[in-house]
Amino acid sequence: MGSHGFAHLTECRFCVNVDHVATVRQARMTDEPDPVRAAVLAELGGADGITVHLREDRRHMQDRDIELLLRTVRTFVNLELACEEEVLALAEAWKPPHVTLVPERREEVTTEGGLDLRAAGDRVAGAVARLGRAGCAVSLFIDPDHDQVKLAAEMGAAAVELHTGEYANAASPGAADHELERLRDSAAQARGRGLRVHAGHGLTYENVAPVAAIPECQELSIGHSVISRAVFVGMEAAVREMAALIDAARSRR
Ligand code: PXP
Repeated sequence: MGSHGFAHLTECRFCVNVDHVATVRQARMTDEPDPVRAAVLAELGGADGITVHLREDRRHMQDRDIELLLRTVRTFVNLELACEEEVLALAEAWKPPHVTLVPERREEVTTEGGLDLRAAGDRVAGAVARLGRAGCAVSLFIDPDHDQVKLAAEMGAAAVELHTGEYANAASPGAADHELERLRDSAAQARGRGLRVHAGHGLTYENVAPVAAIPECQELSIGHSVISRAVFVGMEAAVREMAALIDAARSRR
C-alpha cells in the first residue's frame, strides 16, 4: 500500500494491530485463532506493518506470539510496550525493528490517553535510550499537544504516534474538526522537529480519511475496526478495504 500508485505523495504506512485476534483466542485459552496467521493474511491484504501490544497482564498477546511474529512477518513488527522493566528487557532481547512506548493501566479496557512526557519524563527517556541501544526505532504515543511533541523530540525519539482517540470519540462534527486541527498542528510541529509522524487509536472505516489525509502522517495503526470487520469478510478483505480508504484519502489531498 503506502505510496504506490501515488508516487508524488509521501508514504503513509498502514499497520494492522492484530491484538484482538489473540483476545478471541484467550477467551478460551486455546490455540485459535492464531494472531500469527492473522498477520500473514493482513500482509496479503496489503498491510505495511503489523502492530502488537504486549501488555504486562498478557491479556491478549503472549510472548510466544511476539517471538513467532518477529520470525514470520515480512513487513515489520511494531511492538507496543509500557515503560516497565519486564517488557523492556524482553524487547532488548528480541530487538524488534520498531517499538512504540505507551502508557498502561491494569484496569483499562484499552490504552487511554497518551504518555505524559512531563510527568514520566525520566522513565520514558531512559527507555528510549535503552531501546535505541538495542537497535529499535522508538515511537512515543502522545496526545496531540505541542508540549508533548517538543519533549518527545528532546528525548531522542524517532517518531511520535499521535493519539486519535479524542478525534474518534468527538461528540459532534464541530468537536471532531477541532480535534483534527490539533492533530494537524501537532503533526506539522513533529515533522518540523525531525520526528516521524504516526497516528492511531479508535480509527474506523468511517473516520479514517481526514486523518490519513494529513500530509505529515507517515503511519496509521488500526486494530479494533479492522478485526471487527474481518470477522465478517475475512482478514485479507478487511485490510484491503482499509488500505484502499487510506490510499484514496492521500490521493485526494
Ligand atoms: N495505537 C496505539 C498506541 C494503541 O495502543 C492502539 C490500541 O492498542 C492502537 C493504535 C489501535 O487502536 P484501535 O484498536 O482502536 O484501532
